[in-house]
Amino acid sequence: MSMEMKTTLDYNLFKEINVGANLLKNRVVMAPLTRCRAIDHMPNDLMATYYSQRAGAGLIITEGTSPSINGLGYARMPGIINSDMASAWQPTARKVHDMGGKIFMQLMHSGRVSHPENLPKEARILAPSSVKLNSTKMHVDGKGDLEIPAPVAMTIADIEDSIEEFRLAAQRAIDNGFDGVEIHGANGYLIDQFTNKASNKRTDEYGGSIQNRSRFLLDVVTAVKNQIGAERVGVRLSPFGVMNEMEIYDEMESDFVYIATQLNRLDVAYIHLADHSSMGAPDVPNSIKSKIRTVFNNAIILCGGYNKETAERDISKGLCDLVAFGRPYIANPDLAGRMAENARLAIPDTDTFYTPDEKGYIDYPYLKVESISI
Ligand SMILES: Cc1cc2nc3c(=O)[nH]c(=O)nc-3n(C[C@H](O)[C@H](O)[C@H](O)COP(=O)(O)O)c2cc1C
Repeated sequence: MSMEMKTTLDYNLFKEINVGANLLKNRVVMAPLTRCRAIDHMPNDLMATYYSQRAGAGLIITEGTSPSINGLGYARMPGIINSDMASAWQPTARKVHDMGGKIFMQLMHSGRVSHPENLPKEARILAPSSVKLNSTKMHVDGKGDLEIPAPVAMTIADIEDSIEEFRLAAQRAIDNGFDGVEIHGANGYLIDQFTNKASNKRTDEYGGSIQNRSRFLLDVVTAVKNQIGAERVGVRLSPFGVMNEMEIYDEMESDFVYIATQLNRLDVAYIHLADHSSMGAPDVPNSIKSKIRTVFNNAIILCGGYNKETAERDISKGLCDLVAFGRPYIANPDLAGRMAENARLAIPDTDTFYTPDEKGYIDYPYLKVESISI
């Protein structure tokens, strides 16, 4: 789509948009949010209620969901590893659809950001190289925040198995009612561990040049695309992100322009860029966002520290097509509606971000009409 041909109306946050195979009712996206309510890593009805409450978003992207037993590194993080877990996701997809929403599953393999006590017994902590996290600790229920042991460097067979796990998980997501999947290539998890030099010290075809460091991401995306169709696949990236001990280096901008160019070739439905500068992370230069915009023809989602005004601004500047909201969606299940009404937003309670039950999860109210301030 040519940017010159857009009219002012096309820029509205509340206007519908086609993203790959899906027509979305607005450009407000619920960002992926790990909320740790999946007891024993099993999706449940509480989660279905939580997501259906938020179906006013044009697109919901679920919390990071592991395609592999080795990727379940966080306590109570859900998986889609076998048919039981996959069918337990059905109520979520069905209830979101019943409320008129669309939902993608974020496929996230935690890689080295995993504690053995959060993982099933037979799982292994895998990463491109055996580079231990220094300062990052991991919460284990009943024990607190613990040091994370060094990961095992993946063999080529491990890499092939992992790609296969992503492919099968994507098919399970579609079979159980999801509208698509988002491949989590951001925030220092397994895929980003391959892309970033801090965690990838390999000397084979998966390490060294950006062509090699991005090979795992592109192999995963290719396998998933061949399985479910590129029009149902999005990819999340975090250039200049430092979460989970990722590092910024000189070629970062050109590396991510290369990746976006390859994703354009693969014709995925969207690229979703996370910018965590509003959470204390380093600034993400605007130049990387506009360069990715230039080389990637399908939809761009931007995320991080947005409100209605800044979202409208960046859509109207042509920097992105949609905007994702993370923390605002925790306390405002009807966020899209509130923004459309210029209503006040509730503030989320950080103490219940990762707790196991319904408190701070499904008990945030919808806006009462009398409190709308225009
Ligand atoms: C509680 C919480 C959980 C998160 N979980 C995920 C996740 O599972 N996957 C992911 O890609 N990003 C995750 N993020 C990052 C958000 O998707 C988003 O990028 C970030 O909150 C910035 O957007 P905001 O300023 O609108 O909150 C999480 C953020 C928070 C606060």
